[in-house]
Amino acid sequence: MEKKIAVLAGDGIGPEVVAQGIKALDAVGARFGHKFTYCNADVGAIAIDRWGDPLPESTLISCVESDAILFGAIGDPKYDNDPNAKVRPEQGLLRLRKSLGLFCNIRPVITHPNLLHLSPLRPENIEGVDLVIYRELTSGIYFGEKHLSDDKMYAFDKCEYHVVEIERIAHLAFKAAQNRKKKVTLVDKANVLETSRLWRRTVTKVAKNYPDIELDFMFVDNAAMQMIICPKQFDVILTNNMFGDIISDESSVLTGSLGMLPSSSIGEKTSLFEPIHGSYPQAAGKDIANPIGTIFSVALMLENFELHEEARTVRNAVRFCLTKGIGTPDINPNIKYTCSQMGDIISAWIEDERLNQARISESVSTII
Ligand code: IPM
Ligand code: MG
Repeated sequence: MEKKIAVLAGDGIGPEVVAQGIKALDAVGARFGHKFTYCNADVGAIAIDRWGDPLPESTLISCVESDAILFGAIGDPKYDNDPNAKVRPEQGLLRLRKSLGLFCNIRPVITHPNLLHLSPLRPENIEGVDLVIYRELTSGIYFGEKHLSDDKMYAFDKCEYHVVEIERIAHLAFKAAQNRKKKVTLVDKANVLETSRLWRRTVTKVAKNYPDIELDFMFVDNAAMQMIICPKQFDVILTNNMFGDIISDESSVLTGSLGMLPSSSIGEKTSLFEPIHGSYPQAAGKDIANPIGTIFSVALMLENFELHEEARTVRNAVRFCLTKGIGTPDINPNIKYTCSQMGDIISAWIEDERLNQARISESVSTII
């Protein structure tokens, strides 16, 4: 199989983690006889510096012309700390999502037995968690009309939803539940918000097409609490753009590190794959960032190409590391593997875990 991948490494640790994702993809190519070609393009703060635009036209064209997009991270403190900035790196990602019609953001959250101790939560509560968040990604408060009055004393962000925008992601969430534990939880704030009531009515109607799926509802404030006290109750969580952003960061606490979580964004055109973490500017250039979120995102990309065995192999390679205690400082504070060492070990395992045993053991044993 031949696939063309647009690589948008972005800001902060983006380039470092994306480089490990590419190592993993190349290893898959070598083992299974596929050819992945890459086209690098600028996005975010780096694109503002170079082109004055966080999403240059040429980047958008590369994305449209590719079979998939591998995305790193976006954001820079120089913009975060400047409320008057006219242009922001995040606008690049938002415009990309909107332009490509990436309306469905999928964030799987699975805990690993060897990392339970890293979470501040009790191991017995998080052991065996396997949930997935379906977050609406191209509408809601993120994309509604925004306003700041001339005297800067008043502002608003409008939250809007159309029935069709809710229906299309609801169908995807129910279909996902059919291959999982057959439960969808709609997270909303229907006791207060009109848009949430529209979500409830619409999702209830869509549910009629999926009689094998249990649908329940949860207010987002309660969901934030339930995620901590009893996360095993969840299977598929369906929610709007803003609530999905918040509870997905919260859910990473279950896995022990924000660096572990991958995501895919699918929709009308090419799909995009990215770790859920941000640009972590304090770690940029230090080779300490956790590449697993990106490497798991590569596995999601392979699933999207219908390369299931390949995706499984990538996940098994990561599992091998976790089981052996091989990890970056966020997941293994005692023996510190670098981001690129993780990429080397994982890609050697993917290529051929038996043949490369010597290479793998050497990488493992040279770490003190
Ligand atoms: C995410 C991020 C983005 C979002 C930012 C970088 C705009 O937090 O993908 O979760 O809020 O959607
Ligand atoms: Mg977020």
